[in-house]
Amino acid sequence: MAQRIDTKDLNIYYSSFLAVEAVNMTIEPKSVTALIGPSGCGKSTFLRTLNRMHEVIPGARVEGHVEMDGVDLYGPNVDPVAVRKNVGMVFQRPNPFPTMSIRDNVLAGVKLNNKRISKSDADDLVESSLHGANLWNEVKDRLDRPGSGLSGGQQQRLCIARAIAIKPQVLLMDEPCSALDPISTIAIEDLIGELKNDYTIVIVTHNMQQAARVSDRTGFFNIAGTGKPGKLIEMDDTATIFSSPAEKATEDYVSGRFG
Ligand SMILES: Nc1ncnc2c1ncn2[C@@H]1O[C@H](COP(=O)(O)OP(=O)(O)OP(=O)(O)O)[C@@H](O)[C@H]1O
Ligand SMILES: [Mg+2]
Repeated sequence: MAQRIDTKDLNIYYSSFLAVEAVNMTIEPKSVTALIGPSGCGKSTFLRTLNRMHEVIPGARVEGHVEMDGVDLYGPNVDPVAVRKNVGMVFQRPNPFPTMSIRDNVLAGVKLNNKRISKSDADDLVESSLHGANLWNEVKDRLDRPGSGLSGGQQQRLCIARAIAIKPQVLLMDEPCSALDPISTIAIEDLIGELKNDYTIVIVTHNMQQAARVSDRTGFFNIAGTGKPGKLIEMDDTATIFSSPAEKATEDYVSGRFG
């Protein structure tokens, strides 16, 4: 299921503004890759290029390549809708559809993809996705109640269930715990640890402890100043990034000496 991602000389623009420059990165399958770095260095921008969500912003474009198991996502015959189905995304704020039931929230992505699905298949998918997101036991008796009736942490797990219901190969998470309390955060981190058995996971986080806890590899992005492009400074095993990084900028950032 899980796939390997390679970016090659990836430049990312908003119109004429070069937001992220020359990223060469390998993301290993069935592992968790954390992306860290100061605000504005382009972590979210970079993440959105991995499922072609960047280009939905008017004027936004890329140069270079993003390859998934060797296939260029930006190749001429590639359908961006198919890419987004393969590469799911979870956002900073839990964003379930508020009036939709918990059940329909899980199925929302599947229905958007115009898949016809029988009632019993849908029931199975709802159950397996909620199990996968570690939420089933908490909601199994109220699947027809609105998603907005859940706690923040439950809503975020509902969004993860919705993302995995479409059976992606890669899961992108942009600060998925930043709006959550510590207990919900630990629940999501545990879940990430389980999901990496099946998925390639890329997570953006401002929380150094979280990066250290959940990820196998860590990439540090930095920016030289306002208006300058963000760059990938260094990428390595997480333990190395946090104990003996090659670059001084990385060491300053992970030890909290930045800014
Ligand atoms: N829609 C947009 N249009 C124009 N510029 C944008 C847009 N979104 C982001 N940018 C710019 O791109 C650069 C990178 O922003 P991005 O949101 O990717 O940073 P980030 O590392 O995710 O920051 P944070 O940690 O605050 O979330 C910034 O200079 C930002 O102002
Ligand atoms: Mg961001």
